[in-house]
Amino acid sequence: MLTAEQRAAYDRDGFLLIERLVPADACAALTARAGELVDAFDPETVSVFSTTDQTRTTDEYFLSSGGAVRFFFEEEAFAPDGSLRQPKHLSINKIGHAQHDLDPVFDAFSRRPEFAELAADAGLADPLLLQSMYIFKQPRIGGEVVNHQDATFLYTEPVTVTGLWVALQDATVQNGCLWALPGGHRTGLRRRFVVEPDRTTRFEALDDAPLPAADDPRLVPLEAPAGSVVLLHGLLPHRSGANRSDRSRHAYSVHLVEAGAAYPPDNWLQRPPELPLRGF
Ligand code: FE2
Repeated sequence: MLTAEQRAAYDRDGFLLIERLVPADACAALTARAGELVDAFDPETVSVFSTTDQTRTTDEYFLSSGGAVRFFFEEEAFAPDGSLRQPKHLSINKIGHAQHDLDPVFDAFSRRPEFAELAADAGLADPLLLQSMYIFKQPRIGGEVVNHQDATFLYTEPVTVTGLWVALQDATVQNGCLWALPGGHRTGLRRRFVVEPDRTTRFEALDDAPLPAADDPRLVPLEAPAGSVVLLHGLLPHRSGANRSDRSRHAYSVHLVEAGAAYPPDNWLQRPPELPLRGF
C-alpha cells in the first residue's frame, strides 16, 4: 500500500507517518469500547505504569498481562492518601496487552486489512500480533514515556518488532505526541528488559551508546491528526511527552514480530499456552 517514496522514507528514517488512514468511525468505535472496558474495571489491583523507574514499578499484575486485558494507572492519578484525584476513566494510563486477541472490537480493529499491508510493506513475511496497548495520555496527568527502543521490551533474535501506532485523537506537541530520532533505527539495541527467575526485572546492557536525551534537538515531533498511523521500526529511539494540556491524546498501538524469529523465555511478555499468537 505504500508508495516507493514512503518505503524509502521508512528505510531512511525508521518511522513513517501515514495521515488519516483509519476512518473516524472506526477510531470512535475503539474509543467507545475502551470506555466500556474501563467502566467495567473494578480496581482491586492498583498498578501504575511509569517508564521513569520501570524496574521498580513493574509488578506481577503487569508481568502476567501478556495474555490478559489489564488496566494501569497514571503515576500522577493519586492524591497523597492514595485516593484518585479525578474519575477512574480519567486516571488510567493504558489498557494492555492482549485485547487484540481477547476482545472482538479490538480484534477487528487490530486486524484491519490496511495494517496487514503495512506490515508486509515494512518487510514482515509472517507477522504475529504480539502486544496491544490502548494509551490514554490523560489530560494534565498523562505521563511522559522516556526515550526507548521497542526491541528493548519486545526482543526477538533477530530483532523484528515493528510498531503500528494509531492516533485515535489528534496528537500534538501540546498533548504529548510521539517524538523520534530520524535514522536512529540504524544504531544498535542499547539494552534488553529481562525477567529473572525470581520475577524481578532488570535492564541488560548491550550497547553503551546513549539514547538521546528528552531535549535532543535531533528528535522530531510526529504530530498526527486522528486516524493517522505511525509505522515504527523496533530499533528506533522514540519518546512521548507528558500531557499538561486539557485535551486527551488517545492512541492505540500494536506490536508485530516475525513468526520465525526466536522469542526468549526471559522476555517480560509471555503468552499462556492456551492463547498462542495469531497473525492478521
Ligand atoms: Fe515505544
